[in-house]
This record gives sequence, structure tokens and C-alpha cells, in this order.
Amino acid sequence: MTEPFLESKNINYNHVLRRSLELPCGVILKNRLTKSPMSDSLGNGEGDPTEAQIRLYERWAEGGAALSIIGEVQGDACYPEKPGNLVFGPQSNQQALRTLASRAVIDGAHLWPQLGHAGALSHLPISQPRGPSSLDLDGLQCASMTVNEIQALPGMYAKRRYSQSLQDLPGCTFTQDMDFC
Ligand SMILES: Cc1cc2nc3c(=O)[nH]c(=O)nc-3n(C[C@H](O)[C@H](O)[C@H](O)COP(=O)(O)O)c2cc1C
Repeated sequence: MTEPFLESKNINYNHVLRRSLELPCGVILKNRLTKSPMSDSLGNGEGDPTEAQIRLYERWAEGGAALSIIGEVQGDACYPEKPGNLVFGPQSNQQALRTLASRAVIDGAHLWPQLGHAGALSHLPISQPRGPSSLDLDGLQCASMTVNEIQALPGMYAKRRYSQSLQDLPGCTFTQDMDFC
């Protein structure tokens, strides 16, 4: 297994960064290198990956990272943290997502989306922010969601069609992150 990043830093074979890590969920990461979630805005503006984004995640995998986490993947296009991030839903381009998911997991790398809902921090030019509570602070306003809407959010991701088409790819796992404020 090649790990160009570790090689380039002359990190020896017994170094802790090279050791695999078993997570409580059973996933085994091949080393300790993880690309943390970053809202990259490299999508096509309609919630689907572009070739530039696919190539970026492929390069992280080629570099030897055990895990790359895509930042702020939305399940509801109405509450985006930023334009240009991925949105999972019935409208998703399944082929583009499959290409991303397959090219980013070479050499045993994992690719995980950080599932998000930006709540009060939803990008103002393209949304009307809503969070668990209404807020009216200097520079931060939002309306409130109902209890039912809040409780329905985690299930919304589980119901998406992508769960069938992408879960079966090796290295493709789903995590949740609710950016409520
Ligand atoms: C441009 C940029 C975008 C980021 N986007 C996200 C994000 O979408 N989700 C998240 O949880 N953290 C995000 N972060 C935080 C990073 O994942 C990371 O936690 C932070 O940069 C601290 O890491 P460090 O201590 O290695 O510098 C972002 C950071 C940067 C610089």
C-alpha cells in the first residue's frame, strides 16, 4: 500500500501515523491521516459533484489519506451553509455521485459526507434561515422550526435514494452533523 504523503515526510514504518485505527462502528482506517470536513463549494451549483471536486478527493486518496470527509453535504437544498456544496436528494445526479464515491476510495481510502443543515447560518442570498429556535440577534436572524420538523431531520437523510446506490460502494459511509445554532 503506497502512502506518498508519509513517504515524502520520511515517516518511518512504525510511526503512529501509519497505524490502522478501528472505530467503534467497526470501520478500520488504514492509517491516522484524515482530511477534515471542508465546505469546498466545488459542486456545480445544483448540488452535484464536478470533475474538479472528484479529482480533488481522488488526489487525497492517492496521497494516502485513510479518510476524507466532504463538508456540509445538505439533505435539504433550502438550508445550505454555502452555495456549491453537495445536496443529496431525489434530484441528485446518481452517476456523478457514484463517480465521486468510486474515485475517492482508491487504495482503501474512505469517503464520508458530513451531513448538514445550516439552520440559522443558512446562506442568506439563497435561503430563508430556520433553526430549532427563532433568533433575532445582531447579524443573525432566523425563524423557528416545529418540533416535528426537527425530529424528522435525521430520518430525512436515511430515506434518500442515495443510501441504496452508494452504501454498497466500499469505503462509502454516512455520518450526520447538524449545524444548529
Ligand atoms: C475553508 C474551510 C472550510 C471548512 N468547512 C468545514 C465544514 O464544512 N464542516 C466542518 O465541520 N468543519 C469545517 N471546517 C473546519 C475544519 O474541518 C477543521 O476542523 C479546522 O480547519 C481545524 O482543523 P486544524 O486544527 O487541523 O486546522 C472548515 C475549515 C476551513 C478552513
